[in-house]
Amino acid sequence: MERGEIAQLYPAMVERRRHLHRHPELSYEEKETSAYVAQILRQAGAEVQTEVGGHGVVGSIKGSLPGPVVAIRADMDALPIQDEKDCEYKSQVPGVMHACGHDGHTAALLGVAEYFGKKKAELSGEIRLLFQPAEEVCPGGAVAMIQDGALEGVDVIYGVHLWTPIPVGTSASAAGPLMASTDEFFVDIHGRGGHGGMPHKTVDSVVAGAALVMQLQSIVSRSVNPLDPAVVTIGFIQGGTAQNIIAERCRLAGTVRCFNEEARHLIRERITAVVENTARAYGAEATLEYMSGYPTLVNDETEANRFFQVAEQLDSIKPEISQPIMPAEDFAYYLQQVPGCFILVGAGNPAKQAEYPHHHPKFDLDEEAMGHAAGLLISLAESYMKEWQPK
Ligand code: NI
Repeated sequence: MERGEIAQLYPAMVERRRHLHRHPELSYEEKETSAYVAQILRQAGAEVQTEVGGHGVVGSIKGSLPGPVVAIRADMDALPIQDEKDCEYKSQVPGVMHACGHDGHTAALLGVAEYFGKKKAELSGEIRLLFQPAEEVCPGGAVAMIQDGALEGVDVIYGVHLWTPIPVGTSASAAGPLMASTDEFFVDIHGRGGHGGMPHKTVDSVVAGAALVMQLQSIVSRSVNPLDPAVVTIGFIQGGTAQNIIAERCRLAGTVRCFNEEARHLIRERITAVVENTARAYGAEATLEYMSGYPTLVNDETEANRFFQVAEQLDSIKPEISQPIMPAEDFAYYLQQVPGCFILVGAGNPAKQAEYPHHHPKFDLDEEAMGHAAGLLISLAESYMKEWQPK
């Protein structure tokens, strides 16, 4: 990639991002967005497959020389939030808003498509562009796209998130675990209600629930390896109707976060056992509903190193080593199948009102970050293709 090439692609990125920003679509409803993407991909010279894993679009740019298949992914969905910004590209859909920057990911990846579309003749291998629906809502679009063959033949995958918590002009990632797994669980304790003054005739579901809250705290402190960060939180407890009535039922709900699949499975097993046995110890019955969210996002070491080298040379985005962060990402599923790297690209800039957290009604990004993201993704793909050796 030569200097100036991104500058040529940049005005279209801004225009497209603003178009998508005005017309956001919720997860699993990205019909118009996907049609818009497909049309631009065709103009850029890509072979296009639509309705991949729902409203997903796959664009494929095949070079005339042999080489690897490099996949790059952008997510396309918006959130159920009312846009409270005051600007000309503000959302025109009541209650729906691109408050996480996925419009910027889509626009940046369309820029990447145009770049490689012009270079087909000198391209060694294939660039596979994955425009993914439904990142924000479990089970997410990634699994469905993988099931529909989006990763077939793919050697490596890259993805970015434009990220306002870090300033524009920087970037961050890490080898190994970068983003947490997120699971949720709900416990219903069933006892036998009765008079508050005659507890011996009842099975008190609130006492069993209180014991359970405390017992669950022992999982992280006593069962999980102290070197594996993990969280078990009970965020919700509800039971009873009055001060002198022993509650027949008590409901608890919680969330589990970790950075390691072994710890994640262990915690699930322990929660199952602790719920069952604690309830039984108090003469109550408990049912557990456990919902697995996205797995831990684990970057490949070689590809994370490639990111640091490439970003260092680009001089538009100063790379830093990121601490693991607690939000989850379904990009994790691609990384379970093929090596790759997910990167946070700085998009924060108070001078451009890009200072609100993701999922905030006034969220915005410094659009320059799209140019940085496109430059980074192009350079990663070119670096991988250059080093590739036939097996
Ligand atoms: Ni997001």
